[in-house]
Amino acid sequence: MKTALITGATEGIGREFVSLFAADSYQLVLVARNEQKLKEICSQTPVPATYYACDLSDLKQAQSLLDSLEQRNMIPDCVVNCAGYGQSGEFTGLSWEQQANMLHLNVETLALFTHSFARQMKQRGSGIIMNVASIAAFTPIPHMAMYAATKAFVKSLSEAVDYEMMDYGVRVMTLCPGVTDTKFYARPGMTRSLLNAPLLHTATAHDVAVYGYRSLLKGKTTAVHGWQNRLSIFLSRFTPRRITVGVSARAASHAQKGAS
Ligand SMILES: NC(=O)c1ccc[n+]([C@@H]2O[C@H](COP(=O)([O-])OP(=O)(O)OC[C@H]3O[C@@H](n4cnc5c(N)ncnc54)[C@H](OP(=O)(O)O)[C@@H]3O)[C@@H](O)[C@H]2O)c1
Repeated sequence: MKTALITGATEGIGREFVSLFAADSYQLVLVARNEQKLKEICSQTPVPATYYACDLSDLKQAQSLLDSLEQRNMIPDCVVNCAGYGQSGEFTGLSWEQQANMLHLNVETLALFTHSFARQMKQRGSGIIMNVASIAAFTPIPHMAMYAATKAFVKSLSEAVDYEMMDYGVRVMTLCPGVTDTKFYARPGMTRSLLNAPLLHTATAHDVAVYGYRSLLKGKTTAVHGWQNRLSIFLSRFTPRRITVGVSARAASHAQKGAS
């Protein structure tokens, strides 16, 4: 039986991935902070499922999860690095601590997991890692500057490592959701008003995960959900950077206004 490890498994896009991998008879290793929810999900899934309740913005906890898997000789066939969050606000208006925490989760732990699992998969000669970035990876976003930068990092790292792994039977895929209706917008400093911002298409977590899963099966390297998102990324290639950044700023400040 194949094994999938999914971070951010309790909510939103990650929770949908749990159902999709379970439907494909993977046994599951689920990771998030909320132990109660993890327990519930494990008891509901029709396949063997275990969980690790840990805070992945704490590198020590992330490393000890890896150590524990290694002790059990467990190298997943598929890893979905989905845990992540965003913050809106001016870069200088948000505290460094708030932003550093996001950097630890969205960047450092994701890079640590990609490094550790890609190495083990390379030795074995097979494996897939799906890193969840965002359409924010394509353009700097004023008022969400750090978040967009973390996602640009995820995309850049994943595409480069995917290329390096080409001859070893290992793939590193990047999934780029657009605006998706999840608890992502319920965090402090975020607001659901971005879900209704002009020019943005809002998707469900289910649709994004199904698209991601299909893209993984098709062997896509980078998968951007939604034709509207793909079109705007395509058009941005022919638009002066300053204008693209300005359009992003308008969308993000729309979200900020709703929050204040
Ligand atoms: N929603 C969007 O519009 C959107 C758009 C583009 C990209 N994305 C990306 O998609 C991914 C999933 O987002 P989502 O919309 O599904 O968000 P979500 O509904 O808020 O779910 C986030 C998941 O990550 C877990 N998580 C958060 N902080 C964690 C931490 N410190 N340690 C361990 N687990 C943690 C949460 O569980 P616990 O709270 O139990 O820890 C939850 O399971 C993120 O990487 C996000 O950046 C989202």
